[in-house]
Amino acid sequence: MDKLVVTGGRPLVGRVRISGAKNAALPLMAACLLCSGKSRLSNLPDLKDVRTMGALLTTLGARLNRRGGRLHLDTSAAAGEEAPYELVKTMRASVLVLGPLVARRGQARVSLPGGCAIGERPIDQHLKGLEALGCRIVLEEGYVVAEAKRLKGAEISLDLVTVTGTENLIMAACLAKGATVIRNAAREPEVVDLCNALNAAGARISGAGTATVVVEGVEELAPLDHRIMPDRIEAGTYMVAAGITRGELTIAEAPLEHLTAVVGKLKEAGLRFQQTPKGVVVSARRAPRPVSLITGPYPGFPTDLQAQLMALMTLNTGSAVMQETIFENRFMHVPELRRLGAEVDVTGSTAVVKGVRRLKGAQVMATDLRASACLVLAGLAAEGETHISRVYHLDRGYEAIDQKLTAAGAQVRRESEPAPGKK
Ligand code: EPZ
Repeated sequence: MDKLVVTGGRPLVGRVRISGAKNAALPLMAACLLCSGKSRLSNLPDLKDVRTMGALLTTLGARLNRRGGRLHLDTSAAAGEEAPYELVKTMRASVLVLGPLVARRGQARVSLPGGCAIGERPIDQHLKGLEALGCRIVLEEGYVVAEAKRLKGAEISLDLVTVTGTENLIMAACLAKGATVIRNAAREPEVVDLCNALNAAGARISGAGTATVVVEGVEELAPLDHRIMPDRIEAGTYMVAAGITRGELTIAEAPLEHLTAVVGKLKEAGLRFQQTPKGVVVSARRAPRPVSLITGPYPGFPTDLQAQLMALMTLNTGSAVMQETIFENRFMHVPELRRLGAEVDVTGSTAVVKGVRRLKGAQVMATDLRASACLVLAGLAAEGETHISRVYHLDRGYEAIDQKLTAAGAQVRRESEPAPGKK
């Protein structure tokens, strides 16, 4: 297992380029199962989760050929229908193969994802929508067994906004007979990116990015050929890095149009933004002002940047109130931040962050992807060394984060550490 050692107290100055979005890449890779032939995806980030999805598609019979950020994915011989527990338990987004498999092959056997650090994260809405499309669903031995001769278009009203639930149902509806209307659909930019790629392959989707998506089923789709959009969560993370170190970062390929709520809060905190031909320059000169926020579905403040904003708020000049409304257990970074000297009180889904003048480096442990990013950010500002263990969480969603930070002047090194209990 690796750990990161971050020596804090240095302003970040330099340039980072944002990679392709993890949460667009994963549904787009799964969507290749909807068509037969050679799909091409570019600007693919080199992430553990992307490799896991690749492994899953390979077990389903797809042939993958990756060169740098380009992935060629041939599904001509893809005949498998089972997503095994061994893979699904490492990445919940594996559930994204369910819709495409049922739509294309008429059957699927996908392991239930099981629990996750940040919350129970059930998939009842995915299953409810597939049943509305005429799919027979049985749960047996921890697997979802789904069958449908031919899916039929339907009216689906989701009980709550679910990103991968919306994506699964859009993909399934693409090859259904007739029209499907999905109400209370997720509006995230990654959903729009998926729909753009599907429409370019012959799908007939309208309303992407709104709460009502209409899909006219078609007989078949051509292979996908799509450049993955930049990662707004990675971009937001580096904006916080500039702010928390009181540095000046030029962030290339930052999708500002997808970060309105985030940029608004960072400006309120006192960060400065300047658009230049090389990218957006984000800078800060003093301690951040207190900013309160409530996470919510897009275009609200993204839950995936809540932990990172909290890192910034540990040094605010007052007291900030942060409410997490999407996941029931997404404050696991709080006890770790306290080890660095932060003053955070949590009551239910609300955290009150009382600013301190400085953080002091310590040993901390990453618990999930975005919590580990939060600890790296806090380490960049803390005095001395911060040792962050279990950084495999980080590698799931941040491409080359140590290299990108080091190139901007951070002192970050990766060390291996013995697995727990082993010397
Ligand atoms: C996607 O997860 C993202 N992952 C998550 O990013 C992100 O945090 C989340 O959306 C919210 O924006 C990918 O896109 C691969 P949801 P997803 O279904 O789709 C409940 C990261 O760090 N729910 O929108 O799994 C669920 O429990 C990851 O990159 C049901 O109750 O999230 C949660 O409380 C973490 N039943 C809420 O809805 C369902 O059938 C939103 O979950 C589905 C969801």
